[in-house]
Order: sequence, then C-alpha cells, then structure tokens
Amino acid sequence: MYNAFFGLKENPFELSPDPAFLYRSTQHEEALANLLYGVQSRKGFIALTGEVGTGKTTMLECLRDFLHSQQIPFAFVFNSRLTPDQFFEMIAYDFDLRCSRTSKMEVLFALNAMLVERANQGKTTVLIVDEAHNLEWDVLEEIRLLGNLENRRGKLMQIIIAGQPELDRKLEAPNFRQLKQRIALRCQLKPFDQTETALYIASRLAKAGMATQTVFSPELLEELHARSHGIPRIINLVCDNLLLLAFAMESKVGTMEMLDEVSTDLRLEWPGNRTRHKEQYSRGD
Ligand SMILES: Nc1ncnc2c1ncn2[C@@H]1O[C@H](COP(=O)(O)OP(=O)(O)OP(=O)(O)O)[C@@H](O)[C@H]1O
Ligand SMILES: [Mg+2]
Repeated sequence: MYNAFFGLKENPFELSPDPAFLYRSTQHEEALANLLYGVQSRKGFIALTGEVGTGKTTMLECLRDFLHSQQIPFAFVFNSRLTPDQFFEMIAYDFDLRCSRTSKMEVLFALNAMLVERANQGKTTVLIVDEAHNLEWDVLEEIRLLGNLENRRGKLMQIIIAGQPELDRKLEAPNFRQLKQRIALRCQLKPFDQTETALYIASRLAKAGMATQTVFSPELLEELHARSHGIPRIINLVCDNLLLLAFAMESKVGTMEMLDEVSTDLRLEWPGNRTRHKEQYSRGD
C-alpha cells in the first residue's frame, strides 16, 4: 500500500519466512552454517531452538533451498499435531515413496530401502521437523528410531528438529533422554541486539528497494529495539504498521508519536512502558 510512496518495489516487512529477505546476523549465519555442516557431514540429529519469532522457520527455508540446489531429498514436517500414523503418511508423501502410505510398516520398509540405496551411492537424505516442541511423545520416539538407522559411514538420515525453548526443556524429561543424547549439533537463535535490530531493518528495506534507509532515525531505532525486544517478527509488525501510518500522514520519516500509536495498537509491552504505567498509577493519574 505504502510501497510507491517510499519508493519500494515490494513489501519490506512481510511476516512470511522468506529467505530472499534474509539478514545474515552472526547467529543466523552460524545457525545456517551448522545446519548445512550437520547435513553434509551426516551428524544425525541437529536441534535448532529459539524464542517465538526469532527466525527458526526462516533458517529451515534457507536449508530447504540448499537441499533443493543439491538435489538432496527431504521431508518437511511442519504440522506438530500429528499421530505417528499421520507422521509416516506425511513423510511417505514428501519422499514420494511407492507403497501403501497409510501402512506404517510399508512406509518403513520403503523408507529404509530408499535410505540404504542413497547411502550406498554416498548420498544423504534429510528429515526436517518444525514446531517440534509440540510433538507428542510417541511421534518423537518414532523420529528417534529413524535417527538410529546408520551404516559404517554415518547416519542414513539427517534429522533437524526445530522448536521453541520448550523443546530443550522437553528433552530433559526422563523419557526423552535417549533422544537428547543423540543430538550431535545444537543451534540457538536469540533476539537481536540493538545494532542488529538497526541493521536488520536497513537490510529488509534495502532488499525492498530503499538502498539507504531514511525513515527511522537512530533514536527511533533504539526505542523500536526496546519495544520489540529485538524479535524479528515483532520488528516486522511494528515497522510495517509504522510505515503505513507515516504514509497515511504523508510523512517520509517515522516519529516517536507514530511509534507510540503503533505500540498501543499492537499492545506491545516493554519494561519502560510498565514503569510508566506504574508511575501514572502511583501518581493517581
Ligand atoms: N535473519 C532474518 N532475516 C530476515 N528475516 C528474518 C530473520 N529472522 C527472522 N526473520 C523474519 O521474522 C519473522 C519470523 O520468523 P520465523 O517465522 O522464521 O520465526 P520462528 O522462529 O519460526 O517463529 P515461531 O516460533 O513462531 O515458529 C519472519 O517474517 C521472518 O522473515
Ligand atoms: Mg516457525
């Protein structure tokens, strides 16, 4: 809506996990390098954790692009409310296995045959599981068993399990210990620091067509970082709303008042805000 007004060729702050807009912060770069290394060196289990909206699915999408480019087959399980049977049906579908996809035994046979054949050719296969923190124990157990398949050169299937920090806590439980022990590589995504937040915003705007961003002043960026806690999804929401408001007010630059309005609309909470509420309360305002 506001793109033409700001001289942008596409929306800079979409909420989709689009690798085309990837900002390579040190930790995102490191996480991606770990994922690629883990897959290529057949590490078996790799865990990717991070708070809500920190870029886990975006990393998995980057990995998916890499696997496509290398013609490495993969299954991508993103629905965590699956029963074990549905889980097998889904991977049979993704790997295009020629068997009765509703029979777990048949899927296992066909999958095993494919994995062994590929391993014999020196090739690997990948299973990506997003939102793994929500998976039921019995599905996680099936995933663990799939991760056990190996030959003398390494694991037959590389398994990436991604999820919110609850995943780490879940793996601490006694019945998940076996899975926890098998995780060979761990990557963690944290919110951006203040400098990264500013670079992230500039990077997304540059990719959308604004080579040097002129909308957000350093003070506004600092405040925006505090209010978004450096979480990419919240930053996107705030920036998108702020650009829309600036456009409505025919202003090419953002202001603190606009940020206040957007923060209220989005019901953002941040430490300074709570303090302000408390001060007002104690003053009886
Ligand atoms: N490094 C990054 N570069 C560009 N955009 C990013 C980056 N990290 C996150 N984002 C953006 O932030 C938003 C949230 O990212 P994403 O959906 O990958 O988070 P998530 O960790 O999977 O969240 P959830 O826990 O809700 O599944 C998306 O719009 C995504 O494009
Ligand atoms: Mg996600």
